[in-house]
Amino acid sequence: MSSHVARQQFICITVAIGGLLFGFDTAVISGAITLIKNQFALDTVMEGWLVSSGLAGCILGVLITGLVSDRIGRKKTIALAGSMFLISAVGCAFPPSFSVLVIARMIGGVGVGMASVVSPMYIAEFAPASQRGRMIAYYQLAITLGILLAYFSNALLVNYSHHTFNSDWANWFFHTEAWRPMFLAMAIPSVVFLVLLTRVPESPRWLMSRQQTAKATAIMQQVRSSEEAEKELAEISKAAGRASARRISLTSPAIRLPLIIGIVLAVFQQFSGINAIIYYGPSIFEAAGIDSSNALLFQVIIGVVNMLFTILAIRWADKYGRRILLIAGLTGIVVSLVLCGLLFYTNNTQGPLLLVLMLTYIACFAFSLGPVTWIVINEIFPTEVRVKAVAVCTLALWIAVWMVGQFFPWLLEKTGAAVTFWMFALCSLINFVFSLKVVKETKGKTLEEMEEVFVAPH
Ligand code: BGC
Repeated sequence: MSSHVARQQFICITVAIGGLLFGFDTAVISGAITLIKNQFALDTVMEGWLVSSGLAGCILGVLITGLVSDRIGRKKTIALAGSMFLISAVGCAFPPSFSVLVIARMIGGVGVGMASVVSPMYIAEFAPASQRGRMIAYYQLAITLGILLAYFSNALLVNYSHHTFNSDWANWFFHTEAWRPMFLAMAIPSVVFLVLLTRVPESPRWLMSRQQTAKATAIMQQVRSSEEAEKELAEISKAAGRASARRISLTSPAIRLPLIIGIVLAVFQQFSGINAIIYYGPSIFEAAGIDSSNALLFQVIIGVVNMLFTILAIRWADKYGRRILLIAGLTGIVVSLVLCGLLFYTNNTQGPLLLVLMLTYIACFAFSLGPVTWIVINEIFPTEVRVKAVAVCTLALWIAVWMVGQFFPWLLEKTGAAVTFWMFALCSLINFVFSLKVVKETKGKTLEEMEEVFVAPH
């Protein structure tokens, strides 16, 4: 591996750690909630507050990023997100009251929201066109790793909490109030992230958009061969010239198509029911009559499969292209969801088939819908509106996360598991048709060439 390729990899992997913190922060609460509920004697309203404060924070984080990232730059925005994770980890571990705990969760949510816009966007701007899919898929891999790490760290800490300790402090922290170290664990990846970030340069595309050509050139020369650097910089500055002549904004008809693609993919990624299955998987198995002591084991199996199959996307996104992955993955998702529904409908949930189908679903999500949604959202917009447009799509994604979280338990109770699975299947079928008919292939194109595909000349 040449030195500039190694540097590219280091930079993209470091920025992808934003995804790991996103995954960790969203999953850690699942292990901590029962302990917190008991300790603070929470009623359902307060519990709802605690869980939804994270999501409210996400939405705020997305909005903040949309507003500040063009002004302060990508790197500072990423560092801000990293700091939010660190503050939240410490704040959630040592809150003086329940209200402060809710606020600290919200700050973590702000970090998640910010990272979910700026990490994949930085990678999209930074990666060479031929590697962009793979490198944004690192971010998705990091999300899945973060989810898994949170499960493991929660399980380890629960195990550890069964010991008694000599010191009062250790007894209080690890034994009586074991939810505290669950949150504090996130401080470790947050600090690693912040330290590694000091070795990450600013996005050259952002620098060029701010007329800081000399800085952009110096950075490009570190991460590309001199020939590639020269060619790419020339393209970026040509596109910047076009941009100032045409003045595109979020409401311009020219970016209507990419906006529709980004929003539909974001919302329908969530309407495939992914988070319902990741987080309610154990209760789905219990509803199917499977022993609840296996619940954690199933959660871990789901997490491992989710992570392993994301590696396929890393290998395939730039080879076969985004559309093929979407179409193949969505086919598997629709079929497995329809069959899952059928098992519940016919009361045949006892055998291993349910687990096999759920894992097929997760595997198909992991190599397609999971990573490809983030890849496409972050590569289809021209630089001058990218952060705002990506923020709009990501906001739509988080609102859809909220809707599924809000309505899934209700749907499950009112209509039963079969109809719920079929509704997710129907949404994924709509996404399949949309991907087939409307989504355009973007593999291998530079972000500037992409403008020729999407942005109609005006
Ligand atoms: C989704 C998350 C989900 C994760 C699971 C991401 O692409 O946006 O909502 O929890 O994948 O792997």
